[in-house]
Amino acid sequence: MTDEPRILIRRAGPLQGEITIPGAKNSVLKLMAATLLADGEYTLTNVPDIADVGIMADLLAAIGVSSEVVQPGTLRLVNHGNITPVAPYELVERIRASINVLGPLLGRFGRVSLSLPGGDDFGSRPIDMHLTALEAMGAVFEFRHGVVEATADRLHGASITLEFPSVGATENIVTAAVYAKGTTVLDNAAREPEIGDLCNFLVGMGAQIEGIGTSTLTVHGVEPGELKAITHAVVADRIQAATYLAAVAVCGGEVVLRGARADHMEMLLRRFHDMGLVVTSAGVGPTSSLAVFAPQRLRSVDVATLPYPGIATDYKPLIVTMLSVADGVGIVTENLYPGRFRYVEELQRLGADIRADGHHAVVRGVAQLSGAPVRAPDIRAGAALVVAGLAADGETSMTGVHHVDRGYDDLVGRLASLGADIERVD
Ligand code: UD1
Repeated sequence: MTDEPRILIRRAGPLQGEITIPGAKNSVLKLMAATLLADGEYTLTNVPDIADVGIMADLLAAIGVSSEVVQPGTLRLVNHGNITPVAPYELVERIRASINVLGPLLGRFGRVSLSLPGGDDFGSRPIDMHLTALEAMGAVFEFRHGVVEATADRLHGASITLEFPSVGATENIVTAAVYAKGTTVLDNAAREPEIGDLCNFLVGMGAQIEGIGTSTLTVHGVEPGELKAITHAVVADRIQAATYLAAVAVCGGEVVLRGARADHMEMLLRRFHDMGLVVTSAGVGPTSSLAVFAPQRLRSVDVATLPYPGIATDYKPLIVTMLSVADGVGIVTENLYPGRFRYVEELQRLGADIRADGHHAVVRGVAQLSGAPVRAPDIRAGAALVVAGLAADGETSMTGVHHVDRGYDDLVGRLASLGADIERVD
């Protein structure tokens, strides 16, 4: 027996009910970093209650932006204008999104000292594309003892084509470009909905950005001082939404996800449809919702991850879990991160029949998984193991809960409210 926090999951009957999908981790962290761009008081609403928001808040506090949860889901951030553009190792190594302070600090202050980031432990995550693009805008980088020292007089606009539509690079380039002299045209930009959310936030602050949601972003730099602090609602989390869809898919039942955006999950919903899930959407934008109805048994499909609008790599552990209990054989191909299949061994402990090699996993559906002790290796895999536990006979006890806490707002409570047999033991 261990004292480590655990999530205990037992096989659940059909799930029923309604839940609200919180704001996206991969958006809120970037919005928080963007508050470095202008002094004043910001209010973010629809903020998920997740550990990474606290870590980002600590990082921003060290740099000079204070923040406070004023009520559940509402975060007030105050940039007093007293900024120290240094991101220290102890904070940076805890969260990959700390790299997002680079663009705003460089664009506004012309200097940054940033420890090289850590983040999820699923392979190397270089930042060469961020640096090459910022160099084209006039930045100079020096590396010493694991720290990047960046300097620039005033950045200037540039014509940049990314060799791959990197999420983080796109965000850093756009946040650096808002104060650059002249126009920056970014081709092959990443198009994830969270980037759209960041661009809309910047436009709300006074930035001039065209092509939001497309792969060509044009940023006309404004004069320093022209951006203002604002209030903004964080876009709904498509990955958390997908997690509840996957839970219904393996448990059966009928559930409504308020706030979930079908328009941000089109390719995934198409695949889920092919697997037999019936998903209908209602409403538009922030008032939209998804209703999901599960078939008797899922059908297997093949899935490949791709940058948005393709199927996100972050959905993959959920898809592999669904295929583990589906009828037939599915092949899953990872195109973004080689080696991001570590949770497969944990699913195998639950009786899943999966062979993973390099970028591919072959998943042969079994009639029944069987509960066992497992350990979450990262956020998304942790959520997928919880979902697998819901479909497994007997009890599944999952450690490594802190990974799930980084990106899931009360996963256990939300699933329990839908009738899942799940509890957290701290
Ligand atoms: C973001 C998400 C992460 C998601 C990923 C891909 C956050 C905090 N994280 O991560 O959950 O899985 O998008 O959708 O938002 N690369 C380079 N050089 C670079 C930048 C990236 O080689 O300069 C490579 C990476 O190693 C990786 C791929 O490009 O193989 C994708 O990276 P990127 O799109 O930048 O992802 P992140 O922003 O790190």
